[in-house]
Amino acid sequence: MIADVIVDLQYGDCGKGKITHYLCKNKPYTHVLRYNGGCNAGHTIYHEGKKFVTHHIPAGVFFGVKSIIGSGCVVNVTQFFKEIAELEAGGIDTKGLIYIANNAHVITSEHLYEEERENKIGTTKKGNGPAYRDKYFRKGIRAEQVEKLKPYIIDLYEEFHGVGKGKPVILCEGAQGFGLDVDWGDYPYVTSSHCTTAGALLNCIPHGWVRDVWGVAKVYETYVGSKKFEGDDPIFEKIRDYGEEYGATTGRPRQCNWMDFSLLKKAAVINQVNKLVFNKVDILRRAQSWKLINKEQIVDFESEKRMKSWVENQFNQDLVEIFFSEDKTKI
Ligand code: IMP
Ligand code: MG
Repeated sequence: MIADVIVDLQYGDCGKGKITHYLCKNKPYTHVLRYNGGCNAGHTIYHEGKKFVTHHIPAGVFFGVKSIIGSGCVVNVTQFFKEIAELEAGGIDTKGLIYIANNAHVITSEHLYEEERENKIGTTKKGNGPAYRDKYFRKGIRAEQVEKLKPYIIDLYEEFHGVGKGKPVILCEGAQGFGLDVDWGDYPYVTSSHCTTAGALLNCIPHGWVRDVWGVAKVYETYVGSKKFEGDDPIFEKIRDYGEEYGATTGRPRQCNWMDFSLLKKAAVINQVNKLVFNKVDILRRAQSWKLINKEQIVDFESEKRMKSWVENQFNQDLVEIFFSEDKTKI
């Protein structure tokens, strides 16, 4: 029994979808499991030359792998069916592949309405906060209670631990990122779920099953929400432009800044990352600037090579395998 986990080490939008897609294509998973969040997430996936943006449904579906929305998630039922229709229209056969944990929770129209009225921290207005609040306040609605969802409902315990079910090899796909995690992020500018390896385990995954934890980051940072985040350098406008840093869910421009290395290191440690991907190196190359923030100081490197080797030297490379990747490349 094996579980690989994908976690975003910054504020979401680091390219988890790409890693999920790469791993699904190259490893024999029996399941792909979305372990947190709702349709606040937007995963952009390029599959056989076509662009797909999914919000709820995990990327396993592109490869004929059972794709489960886990117990750590909240689901907008309308959006769920819309997404299935979009995938089918794009030529993806979803039949018999998409499931929702019986104990996942539902986002209702009241939740959406509530966020329309009050949204101090700049949420995606997808009803996530109110849905999780109601879950913990014990007045939420579970997916299994919704008639329309009945054909998709699955019991994670039966599925992963049931007699005669075979040995699962699960890819756990997260949403959002460490900087948005409800416990470890910059509260209150956070989402309402657990965006960590621990969050993945909450979905009926025993910790001993975990093999690889893929941490995904960018070589610079982006954030969407109402706090000020962008650095003062006008170069960030270029980076936003080159990196196409606009929200996949809301279309909002993402605020950009240099990578906060101290935060990244903390995220890698807490998530016990052993495979670390730095995406979008080509965007900094275009901007011709190799900088990061370490212990609140900007560090300016004279070349790409210097920055990469500095970053590599901050990790024990026996424990953490590091990849530098470009936008729109496979890995
Ligand atoms: P919520 O998750 O909609 O409640 O929003 C809380 C915070 O997380 C806001 O700053 C959102 O912009 C941010 N957020 C939520 N989902 C994502 C995502 O998928 N990518 C980037 N930021 C996100
Ligand atoms: Mg995203």
